[in-house]
Amino acid sequence: MTSEPLEAAIEDAARLVAGASHLVAFVGAGLSAESGVPTFRGPEGLWTKMGEPDMRGYDRFLADPKKWWEERSQRAGDMKEFVDALDEAVPNDGHYALRELEEAGFLKHIITQNIDNLHQVAGSQAITEIHGNRTKLRCIECSRRWDIYHFDIEGSPPSCPDCGGIIKGDTVMFGEPIPHDALEECAAQSQMCDCMLLIGTSAVVYPAASFPEQVKSAGGTLIEVNPNETPLSAHSDVILRGAAGEVLPKVTQQAKGIVQE
Ligand code: OAD
Repeated sequence: MTSEPLEAAIEDAARLVAGASHLVAFVGAGLSAESGVPTFRGPEGLWTKMGEPDMRGYDRFLADPKKWWEERSQRAGDMKEFVDALDEAVPNDGHYALRELEEAGFLKHIITQNIDNLHQVAGSQAITEIHGNRTKLRCIECSRRWDIYHFDIEGSPPSCPDCGGIIKGDTVMFGEPIPHDALEECAAQSQMCDCMLLIGTSAVVYPAASFPEQVKSAGGTLIEVNPNETPLSAHSDVILRGAAGEVLPKVTQQAKGIVQE
């Protein structure tokens, strides 16, 4: 796909959105950048500053879950900056545009890699969080989840009242398998999807990045919303080189206009 002027690309994207039968948004950290949450890669990225964590995070948790629970409120260095930013973040115009696309009947589902809970705060309904949600806890055996603020924590580590499994934060750790319920929902949504909006993701983390690839191989269309090139740019049918908070509201308004024509 060769790049075209942004306004023309927005028009093309709006037509695809309005004409899709099962539109899915595949979201990454770039969507929350305008809410003040740092991305992971790129010049100001968290991993660029700290180095990408190794894959033994989940094994370390399993070896000593009690330690994880004891240390979980401690914040240091760049991680403290990240957690503070998450605590203060509120949805931006990009999140609200996704809610509007859903309310208008265009958007059927959001697959998000973000853990920040901002889709929910913005009012979106159909959401699968492939990397979990920082405001939830999860049993590692049966995947039951609890609101972190409404959970009577007993035991160290606490165990699941249903199955006795160990409870951890819902956020997926490095080296941890993606919870099977989330993975199954992502696969089902991608199978139904005939048009996918790729918003603010570098699309390098698997298995998440495999879903847009599946949609493309099954004949679906991809719309990329990202100021920078990604491995998915070459496979995208329309490329919107702009910030999600600026571009998504325009796509939404134009798609609504097309339906009213
Ligand atoms: P990355 O940090 O890898 O990529 C963020 C993308 O957002 C980049 O391609 C930027 O160009 C783009 N971007 C920046 N500002 C933007 C804006 N205003 N509007 C639109 N796009 C913008 O983040 P992810 O792809 O989400 O996993 O990373 C995937 C996973 O890697 C994360 O879920 C996390 C991380 O390790 C876990 O923690 C398990």
